[in-house]
Amino acid sequence: MSEQLRPPFSGEPGAWAVDAPAKLNLFLEVLGRRPDGYHGLETVMVAVDWADRLTFRRTHEAGVRLRCTDGSLPTDERNLVVRAARRLLDGRSVSGGVEIGLDKQLPHGAGMGGGSSDAAATLTAINGLFGLGLGPDALAAAAAELGSDVPFFLTGGGAVCRGRGEIREPFPAPVGWAFVVVAPEFALSTAEVYRSLRLGDGAPSRAGGSADVVRALADRDPDALGRALFNRLEEPALRLAPRLAEIRTAIRQAGAVAALMTGSGSAVFGVCRDREHAGNVAETLRSQTGVGRVRIVHTLPVGT
Ligand code: C5P
Repeated sequence: MSEQLRPPFSGEPGAWAVDAPAKLNLFLEVLGRRPDGYHGLETVMVAVDWADRLTFRRTHEAGVRLRCTDGSLPTDERNLVVRAARRLLDGRSVSGGVEIGLDKQLPHGAGMGGGSSDAAATLTAINGLFGLGLGPDALAAAAAELGSDVPFFLTGGGAVCRGRGEIREPFPAPVGWAFVVVAPEFALSTAEVYRSLRLGDGAPSRAGGSADVVRALADRDPDALGRALFNRLEEPALRLAPRLAEIRTAIRQAGAVAALMTGSGSAVFGVCRDREHAGNVAETLRSQTGVGRVRIVHTLPVGT
């Protein structure tokens, strides 16, 4: 399959700088538990313009070194960025190593895919910086090993994702569609949210429902999008963090067409009619104390 890879853009000479954007899940249905312990998914993801920034510099010294603006994050093998770089460099006869800077802007444990996007940006950058010549399929295979959401971020844009999330069917999502995101102070663990999911309980299956989301986006119809939003992980996340229900209500009361948790949480987003409407919703939310970080985001084209 031929697809466009996110191109790095030049920062200082000899170094590459890449933005690693966030995603929103506009639809997420869990289809069942798989023998490998993961869950089968049908999800719609769109990349949005809230991003981490990574810089890559080749060094004479071998190895992968990571510096991060967020001191609470590990900079060793536990960080997906280091694992992504090693995945491509280990066992290859390249000279020297790489120094990576991660300017962390995205909240973690928020369901916005920050760590996965950082890993995808790293794969693309290392492939280019070291001239490894890996094609889209080889990069996608490496991405899927690193995490379920990582392949999506190799291309971004909009995609229906299946399997455990790693099988992408890109679709032409409109660019510049505004959403308001609220990132609460607390984080949620993806593994823990899946563990507290009770399959078979709750709302009837919405398998196939991703088509309604894709159609609403193509029609640029915020009301239809609001009706089509669904996230099976909301219920288990609400059990772990009941405060999410208040945040969702606050977004709706601030005037959003609809509100939904993204991924396994904890961030919640509101659907807006246009940029001006998003501005009004965000302003109302910011005037309230204790809601969390409020941010207006816009959908991105493929390859950014
Ligand atoms: O793939 P990733 O490392 O991002 O997944 C984190 C955790 O989320 C997994 O260890 C698993 O517990 C859960 N998960 C799942 N089914 C998926 C994706 C993630 O159960 N499709």
